[in-house]
Amino acid sequence: MKAIIVPEQGLIHSCDRAEIRPPPAYRGRIERLLISSTHIRARVARIAREIAVDAARVNADQLHLVVVLKGATVFGADLAREISRARGPELRFNFIKASSYGNGTVTRGEVKIEGSLQYARGRHLLVVEDIIDTGLTMARLKRYLLRERKAASVKICALLNKPDRRLPRLRKELAIDYAGFDIPDLFVAGYGLDCAEQMRELPCVVVVNDRAF
Ligand code: IMP
Repeated sequence: MKAIIVPEQGLIHSCDRAEIRPPPAYRGRIERLLISSTHIRARVARIAREIAVDAARVNADQLHLVVVLKGATVFGADLAREISRARGPELRFNFIKASSYGNGTVTRGEVKIEGSLQYARGRHLLVVEDIIDTGLTMARLKRYLLRERKAASVKICALLNKPDRRLPRLRKELAIDYAGFDIPDLFVAGYGLDCAEQMRELPCVVVVNDRAF
């Protein structure tokens, strides 16, 4: 499933004009709106329909979601309800924490994975992630679930993707099965994604003014 490409000027639906003005609490820290909530809602529903169709095709009556904390919680909750609306398979919710280490914004390539993972063995898993940047976190997580936790299969669903940031060696290796939006190389927040733990509650995706942090 190919992602929708978001242009530099963003995807803003006319009925979401109010989202262009940042909430007072974040004024000065948000540079601009990138994807308004109507576009996100429509895309999440579209991804859910595709997941439901694919599950029906292979007669899968149960799907284990693995929601990556904390950023994918909002996306995961909306996606689950849309899968149900699309008459998809019965869902199981699982959560995992994956954090990469490094100094500042530079990752050293070490990914720490935490969470109860007993459910993974022999299961078909759908990892739900907020954003894929260099791809390191997701590549490590997928390998870990398959090799060490012996999952039967691991599919990836990511709302946002920054293709320009992908590590060259992961460009082919890391396929996103269900992709929401390809975005430019910008630091974004909202819809579960944070900037220093703030802005997760925004219904839209915004570009952060990093000079303000
Ligand atoms: P990767 O390992 O480089 O792909 O990084 C993935 C993780 O970095 C995501 O799960 C996010 O937690 C974080 N991240 C990357 N880009 C952004 C962003 O623009 N906003 C918020 N978090 C981000």
